[in-house]
Amino acid sequence: MTTCPHARLFSPEYHADPHTTHRHLADEHGGVHPAEIVPGVHAWIVTDYATITAWCRDPYTFRRDSRLWSDWKEGRIPDDSPVAAMMAHRPNLLYADGEEHTRLKRAVVDSLGRVPESRVGDVTRRHADALIDAFVERGDADLVAEYTRLLPLMVLSDLFGFSRDIAERVLTSISELWDGVDVLRANQEYERALSDAISAKHATPGEDVTTWLLHHRAGLSDEEMLHQMVVTFGAGAEPTANLIASTVHTLLTDPDAGSALNGTRVGVAELVDQVLWREPPITNYPVLYPTTDVPIEHGRVIKAGEPVLLGYAAAHHAMVGAAEDIEQHNRAHLSFGVGPHRCPARGFGQAIAEVAVQSLIRRLPRLRASEPTPQWRVSPFARALSTLPVTFTPGLSKGTPSWQHSDPSSSPRTSTDSPPASASTEPSSRWRSLVAWLFGR
Ligand code: HEM
Repeated sequence: MTTCPHARLFSPEYHADPHTTHRHLADEHGGVHPAEIVPGVHAWIVTDYATITAWCRDPYTFRRDSRLWSDWKEGRIPDDSPVAAMMAHRPNLLYADGEEHTRLKRAVVDSLGRVPESRVGDVTRRHADALIDAFVERGDADLVAEYTRLLPLMVLSDLFGFSRDIAERVLTSISELWDGVDVLRANQEYERALSDAISAKHATPGEDVTTWLLHHRAGLSDEEMLHQMVVTFGAGAEPTANLIASTVHTLLTDPDAGSALNGTRVGVAELVDQVLWREPPITNYPVLYPTTDVPIEHGRVIKAGEPVLLGYAAAHHAMVGAAEDIEQHNRAHLSFGVGPHRCPARGFGQAIAEVAVQSLIRRLPRLRASEPTPQWRVSPFARALSTLPVTFTPGLSKGTPSWQHSDPSSSPRTSTDSPPASASTEPSSRWRSLVAWLFGR
């Protein structure tokens, strides 16, 4: 595979302006072209809407099991490659095919589906208020570090019925994984915390997603439970956090979006849809592995076992460019995937994002971005702001205390309990102190 220099998904130029790169690649190469994910790791990327849809709906030719990846099988990818975390096979539904996938997916879909519709919004509003309470008096905040990254994890911890102790361990270990702090130890702690959550639900079942998964007729073993929970938290928290951050960023920096919302021509839900078209949180992922050679345009062939990334962002960009206003009038974007593997929690992701943005607008008057140029993380797979510094009129307004809504033993405290502990601005220490404050340590 010869890679066009523009298709280096790790280059700062790509992340500074992915849309120009996508346009160039589509003009030069059509809907499928070679890409380099990180130096030395090659793949194809499919950027045509109709082709993505067709290939995702053809699980016989295109599998998800990355043990089919020829470069991996033949030892050309080191175990510690930066792509291993996202591409090495794990026994969860994202990498499963056929009947195995159907069984695992049914358990996840049914268990998430038992959460009452209004609960996601209520839980999100409560945690959003608690997080905002922590910085509302300051008049400034980094919304990525202090809000968007934490909120989806807190909501999921609540819906999965985690005790305060387990929720804190999950939050702290995932934050360390994101910050790259002692990653191996953090990963072990993350898995130990989820294992403890499973044991706790064996002992004391509740009305929560963990209990419903445990009791599902698919009969998942504890090990299967653990793997599905690891992926559900990972696949759920990160894109939801990125969607919230991108939506707030659009609201604060795109005058059309801001004035449309102020003039009530569009609501937050439409704004979220627009962002899902323009900046899908997952840009080039998951990965398909053809079981046979697949001929494509210009006489080229994708060989069996060569990875194919799903280029949602590029596919959207071509459609948005071609049809005016497509983003606000339909939800046929690919941001949640398509076919048997499509996201089982689209409603959750959108509801959490909408309530998260509404809560900021409601609580923080004169919200402004304090840096005009956004800082994007260099990730081949995701569109993620690394920071979102804002200012607003400082206020004393408090959200609704969390103890008014639910069992105090399983929910974070509110700002009346104790103040944030540390003034350090170093990200992981600030994160830890915020977590400690939220969970009352
Ligand atoms: C804005 C938020 C979200 C976005 C953009 C998103 C997007 C996606 C995408 C693109 C996929 C892969 C589809 C494919 O393989 O073809 C996926 C799968 C998945 N998502 Fe989401 N997701 C979001 C939120 C969530 C949440 C909140 C949860 C959990 C509560 C979740 C759980 C999962 C799981 C378990 C899978 C694997 C499904 C499978 O392989 O069959 N996602 N999601």
